[in-house]
Amino acid sequence: MIELVHLEKRYGNAVPLTDVNAVINDGDVISIIGPSGTGKSTLIRCIDMLERPTSGEIILDGENICARGYDVTKARRKMGMVFQSFNLFGHLNVIENIMQAQIDILGRSKSEAYETGVELLRRVGLVNKQDNYPDELSGGQKQRVAIARTLAMDPEVILFDEPTSALDPTMVGEVQSVIRNLTDTDKTMLIVTHELNFARAVCSRVFYMDQGGIYEDGTPDQIFGNPQRDRTRRFIRQLRVLELKVDGPDFDFMGAGTEIDGYCLHNNVSSRAKYGIKLAFEELACNILKPVLACTPVLITVEHSEKHDSTEVTATYGGERFDPAQSEDDFSYSVLQSVVGGLSYHYDAEAEQSNAIRILI
Ligand SMILES: Nc1ncnc2c1ncn2[C@@H]1O[C@H](COP(=O)(O)OP(=O)(O)OP(=O)(O)O)[C@@H](O)[C@H]1O
Ligand SMILES: [Mg+2]
Repeated sequence: MIELVHLEKRYGNAVPLTDVNAVINDGDVISIIGPSGTGKSTLIRCIDMLERPTSGEIILDGENICARGYDVTKARRKMGMVFQSFNLFGHLNVIENIMQAQIDILGRSKSEAYETGVELLRRVGLVNKQDNYPDELSGGQKQRVAIARTLAMDPEVILFDEPTSALDPTMVGEVQSVIRNLTDTDKTMLIVTHELNFARAVCSRVFYMDQGGIYEDGTPDQIFGNPQRDRTRRFIRQLRVLELKVDGPDFDFMGAGTEIDGYCLHNNVSSRAKYGIKLAFEELACNILKPVLACTPVLITVEHSEKHDSTEVTATYGGERFDPAQSEDDFSYSVLQSVVGGLSYHYDAEAEQSNAIRILI
C-alpha cells in the first residue's frame, strides 16, 4: 500500500504539486490523466524517488520513504518504472538488457537471470529477438523489451510514464495489449497516459490531476461517464472554455465582444452558435442580470465541444436568490428563451456562487 500525504514538489517558482493526498491499495491499476504540465510525471517520479518531494510523506508498506536516513534503494526494489523513451542500453542485446539488473541488483545467477528473461520475452511476444540489439527493433518492440526488463525485477508496483506516446501509431496497440495483460497479475500499476480510451479500458481507478493535486479520484465509469467536478468534465469532454467576468453594470462590453469573437474563431464555433453566445451574453449582462450586477459580479462561462458541436453558456453569481424568470425584464428573458435550445436556473444556498443559469445554445 502507498499513502501520499500532503505531498509537495517545487522547482524554484514552479510548484507542480501543491498538496497530493491518496491511498493506493495493492493491486490497484490507476490511470493518471490530466492536462499537460499538471504534474503527472512529477508525481510518479516522486513515488519512484527519482525526484525528492519538497515536503510531505510517501508511506510505502508502513515506512515513510522520504524520511531522512531512509535507504531509497529499498523502495526502488519494490518499484519499477517504464519510460516514454524506453531507456534500453544500446550496447547490450535484448536478453542482456533484461539480465543485467537481475544479476547486479538481485544477485541472481546468470542462468537464473537468463531463464527469467526468456520467460518474460515470451510473455511480451519477443522471444525470437533475444539476440538483437535495441537499434534493430521497432519502437513498439523496444517498449515491450523495456516492460520485460522492469518485470524481471519482480516489482510490486509498476509506474508507466506515457508508455506509448513516443510510438508510431501502428505500434501503440501491441504495447497497450502487453500492459492490459499485466492487469491480470496482482501488480499495482500507475499509468500516466493521454490515451483516454486505453485508460478507461484497463484501469480500476482514475486520478484526474489538475490545480496542483489529484483533483478527482474515481472509478473509470465516474470519471469518464459522470465526472463530478468542472475541470474534470471539461477535460474529458474536450471542452474549450471562455470565462468572462462581468464586474459591474459598466463593464467593458466591446472588449467582451472581441473576446467572444476570438474564442469562436480559435475553436471553430459555427456562426449560428456564435450568434447564440453573443445574444445570451448580451441579454444576461446588459439586461436580465442588471439588478444583480449592481451588488455582485457575475461570471459568464462559455463551453464549446468541437467533437459534439455543442455549446453552453453559464452565468454564476453569489448573493440572494435571483431567478431570471422573475426578472423585471420579461422581454429580454422571453427573447432569450425563444432563441436558445434550453434555459434552466438553479439555486444552491450552500455554494459560493449560489445562483447558476445554464443556457444551451
Ligand atoms: N526538472 C524540472 N525543473 C523545473 N521545472 C520542472 C521540472 N520538471 C517539471 N517541471 C515543471 O513542473 C510542471 C509539471 O511537469 P510534469 O512534467 O510533471 O507535467 P505532466 O503533467 O507530466 O505534463 P505532460 O502531460 O506534458 O507530460 C511543469 O510546469 C514543468 O515545467
Ligand atoms: Mg509528463
